[in-house]
Amino acid sequence: MLTGDRPTGKLHLGHYVGSLANRVKLQDTFNCYFIIADLHMLTTKPSRTDIENISSNAREMVLDYLACGIDPAKSVIYLQSAVHEVYEMNLFFEMLVTVPRLQRVPSLKEMAKSANLNEMPLGLLGYPVLQAADILMPRAHLVPVGKDNEAHVELTREIARRFNSMYGEVFPIPEVLVGEVPTLVGTDGNTKMSKSLGNAIYLSDDAKTVEKKVKGMYTDPNRIRADIPGKVEGNPVFIYHDVFNPDKAEVDDLKDRYRNGKVGDVEVKDKLARAINNFLGPIRERREEYASRTGYVDEVIFSGTRKMQEEASQTLLEMKKAMGLTGAWNKISRKAEKFRKKLQ
Ligand code: TRP
Repeated sequence: MLTGDRPTGKLHLGHYVGSLANRVKLQDTFNCYFIIADLHMLTTKPSRTDIENISSNAREMVLDYLACGIDPAKSVIYLQSAVHEVYEMNLFFEMLVTVPRLQRVPSLKEMAKSANLNEMPLGLLGYPVLQAADILMPRAHLVPVGKDNEAHVELTREIARRFNSMYGEVFPIPEVLVGEVPTLVGTDGNTKMSKSLGNAIYLSDDAKTVEKKVKGMYTDPNRIRADIPGKVEGNPVFIYHDVFNPDKAEVDDLKDRYRNGKVGDVEVKDKLARAINNFLGPIRERREEYASRTGYVDEVIFSGTRKMQEEASQTLLEMKKAMGLTGAWNKISRKAEKFRKKLQ
């Protein structure tokens, strides 16, 4: 299986329920590849500063992976930009997709909009094509991602089918796996928890920060007093309770009293903060333990990238053979060789 994230900073609860939980669960069943997708980051963040921050952001992100229980011994964690085969594969795949097909991918318009781009850069339009190259490089069969990436995996499947039918069976047709909570609401009630919207609780937030963020959460806006019946459905505070509070009896009791105007927001939120902190506690501990080993995370990324480079060169060679592209160069070099010999 292959999945990953752009190195734009620390991961949050939305990442966890959307994809990370699945990754941890599946790591014993599959060979796992985790991509630090810095080339994808460039599609909306190409500045010098963004590029300078790649290494530290990658480190934070990988610390989050390890803290959540991803075992570096079982998985290949690698830096995308250091695997040059992906640039080549991307180009071959670009021949198999049309521009209108890409223009219909909904996430790209959103990405352009939130990056304040009024016209679509070519690289951003090609975002899912590059992602197809990532996925097909180690010939992944499964891609655990958040809901927003579902359409990209669909395109990957189309590209793989197209390639196979034109040149022969080289690639598997990968399946997508979306997490239990495909899109987690933000603390502000916005449909999506996201770093850029500033409505995220990070896996690395300390207990005090979590308490503060939960206290400030958006709830039923019509409930201005504790004795007014409140709305549970679609209420972010209760959505989080459902996801992060394992004490179902407590959650049911809170919901009941909330609906009947018999509980204050403070109690509901205090209990939520406690549940989230219980969940994050062990993650924080593991994170600190890994972070204290200077150079360890870098070694994990380094050796993963080396492994991926090997794998990638094999896939690319097979791909070029299937396409007959190795043939052109071989023929030309053979003739050139003969020509040179004659000259001597
Ligand atoms: N598109 C993913 C994101 O939203 C990052 C990514 C790049 C990815 N290549 C991938 C995810 C391959 C899964 C598989 O950040």
